[in-house]
Amino acid sequence: MKRKYSDIRKKLNFVINKKTTDDMAHLTHYFHNHKNGISKYYKPRAQEYLTKLHENLNIVEEPSFQTYLPFEWDIPFPSPKKPTFKFIDLFAGIGGIRLAYQKNGGKCVFSSEWDSFAKKTYEANFGEVPFGDITKISETAIPDHDVLLGGFPCQPFSIAGVSKKNALGRQHGFLDKTQGTLFFDIARIIEHKRPKVFMLENVKNLVSHDKKKTFKVITETLSGLGYSIHHKVLDARYYVPQHRERIIIVGFDKMVFKGEEQFEFPKPKNVELAIRDILEPIVDDKYTLSDKLWNYLQAYKKKHQAKGNGFGFGLANLDGVSRTLSARYYKDGAEILIPQEGKNPRRLTPKECARLQGFPDNFIIPVSDNQGYRQFGNSVAMPLIQAVGKNLVKELNKIHESPEAKAAICK
Ligand SMILES: C[S@@+](CC[C@H](N)C(=O)[O-])C[C@H]1O[C@@H](n2cnc3c(N)ncnc32)[C@H](O)[C@@H]1O
Repeated sequence: MKRKYSDIRKKLNFVINKKTTDDMAHLTHYFHNHKNGISKYYKPRAQEYLTKLHENLNIVEEPSFQTYLPFEWDIPFPSPKKPTFKFIDLFAGIGGIRLAYQKNGGKCVFSSEWDSFAKKTYEANFGEVPFGDITKISETAIPDHDVLLGGFPCQPFSIAGVSKKNALGRQHGFLDKTQGTLFFDIARIIEHKRPKVFMLENVKNLVSHDKKKTFKVITETLSGLGYSIHHKVLDARYYVPQHRERIIIVGFDKMVFKGEEQFEFPKPKNVELAIRDILEPIVDDKYTLSDKLWNYLQAYKKKHQAKGNGFGFGLANLDGVSRTLSARYYKDGAEILIPQEGKNPRRLTPKECARLQGFPDNFIIPVSDNQGYRQFGNSVAMPLIQAVGKNLVKELNKIHESPEAKAAICK
């Protein structure tokens, strides 16, 4: 009988917290890739770590991978059995983008996320612990992949200050690490690994930031790397009952596609879901706002309304779509409040937040409510990303149809 991943994680006592190092990332990445050409990236440190674990846990068996592999992936979202392409998941969060691309037939071969709570959720669902800080990971340590994915943080951008000359005038790679913004980490990986396609996601404001200069630097940097760029602000409301506008940037390697890809962003369609459809039937009273908080939110809104501002809480229309779920939802839930008969309104539960982002109900939330709110607020509307991915993968598959290309794709 095959062992299960859950037995192994128990036996090896996997604990994911702030002290978790990249050792566990090496080991779990090796478990996912032991049969393909990628194993070499992870095996040496995975072996070292396994040996250390056996010693520390007084396991008498030899620390040999043969005792463990292959095993059954009893996790909610295993990789597809017959993947058609390989991808990497940068700024992975809880894996909303990974989930969307797995559903499109992809196998993830590398993930990075530095927040230990997000890592915990990621591991519970995908059986993989992401590597940490991407700024400290050499591009040479990242395996080859067809698609690079990154919902990079909307940190205050200052990259427009980096002159175009600085960004593109390069002899030996254009990446001066002191530029210090995470976009340039993505660019350095693209430059070195040459994925056939990439997809980046960010807040809509990225487009207008600093009089549009930031976005110009980003698109010019990416085209300067030899990619043809497509970008569009898309609203998730056609997929989930949430108004959530995000900029999606997609790039196709001109050396591979010759600028002839027929990629299109998905078109708006009928809104199919309303908030009512994602609500849990019975909800604990702890989600109902206290009188103190509810009074405060009402007073705050009144004050700002008097000044002509639209700030304040948002009481959801259950037959419509909600405002955008943000990472600050855990603070007071003000942006999306659910009206209740004869009671103060309540906030959404973490499970409802997951649904609002289009995550399936079997997605495990192993963290506190507050962490859960942050994680879903930071994540993506999964079905929208899946729809973008579907069109992207359609183009990728066209060039993967040759027999040589098929043989090169990892199984
Ligand atoms: C906008 S969120 C992306 C969420 C992801 N798309 C998802 O579905 O959950 C950005 C993520 O980047 C992570 N991050 C920020 N700086 C990082 C760094 N230097 N290295 C690795 N991850 C980082 C944050 O912790 C956060 O989870």
